[in-house]
Amino acid sequence: MKVFSQKVQIYDAVDVLKEKLLTLGLVPTMGALHEGHLELVRTALANNDCVMVSIFVNPTQFDNNDDLKKYPRTLNDDVVLLRTVSEDRLLVYAPTVDDVYEGHTVSEKFDFDGLEFEMEGRFRNGHFDGVGTIVKRLFEIVKPDNAYFGEKDFQQLQIIKKLVEKYRIPVNIIGCKIHREVNGLAMSSRNTRLKPKYKKAAPFIYKTLTTAKKQFGTKSANKVIKWVEKQFAEHDILKLEYFIIADVDTLKIVKRKSHKKTYRAFIAVYADDIRLIDNIALN
Ligand code: PAF
Repeated sequence: MKVFSQKVQIYDAVDVLKEKLLTLGLVPTMGALHEGHLELVRTALANNDCVMVSIFVNPTQFDNNDDLKKYPRTLNDDVVLLRTVSEDRLLVYAPTVDDVYEGHTVSEKFDFDGLEFEMEGRFRNGHFDGVGTIVKRLFEIVKPDNAYFGEKDFQQLQIIKKLVEKYRIPVNIIGCKIHREVNGLAMSSRNTRLKPKYKKAAPFIYKTLTTAKKQFGTKSANKVIKWVEKQFAEHDILKLEYFIIADVDTLKIVKRKSHKKTYRAFIAVYADDIRLIDNIALN
């Protein structure tokens, strides 16, 4: 498994693969890899001849400098983990900020038809411009046939599908199911930073989502929202940032349920200073 840090090396490696008519999958990550990432890599390996994993903590998608500084960086451990998945069909691109941004570390401005203003967009200023910038750049550098993203960041997944459609980027975007701990907590690189008492409390998030899903079968969206808000208002240590029920295509908050539409519930919660997000399909 080769680990590259410069995009010129990627251009050469990709040229060799394309000459041999081999298919290439891309799994973009910010590192601190966990089982959820490894599942994305395994899915990509099952469907492509070769897979590139990018490991890059992208500064332009952080609206909070402290969060960027504290984001775990564990490249050596990540490489060891990836080697356990495949030694001969994996490549890693772990660039520096300069290799990606060439001294101009700013986001492009995107219009994602309003998807960017909902949920995470409301609470994380400029976040999706940063994500769009890095993902578009990775697609230009790696030129993958297929790219794999987790449904934990469901809004990000929908935005990347929109990016590809708007810019006519020739890559298939594949969304993969959320990988959870046995206790239901959605796997995230941020979980490693949870202090024990918060780690113990955090599965409450998924437990509440699954009850909300049951309630959604018989109750109005508004009633379910009020119930979830009450659960967190009464919780000792977890602080709810938002809980919404939205149409999966537009990500707009549901006003009145229609059985012709598909809905998902989305949640963001603070466990101490760590922000955790999760979501669940409702119908
Ligand atoms: O989901 C992530 O880890 C990041 O947002 C991504 C897609 C790798 C872009 O930096």
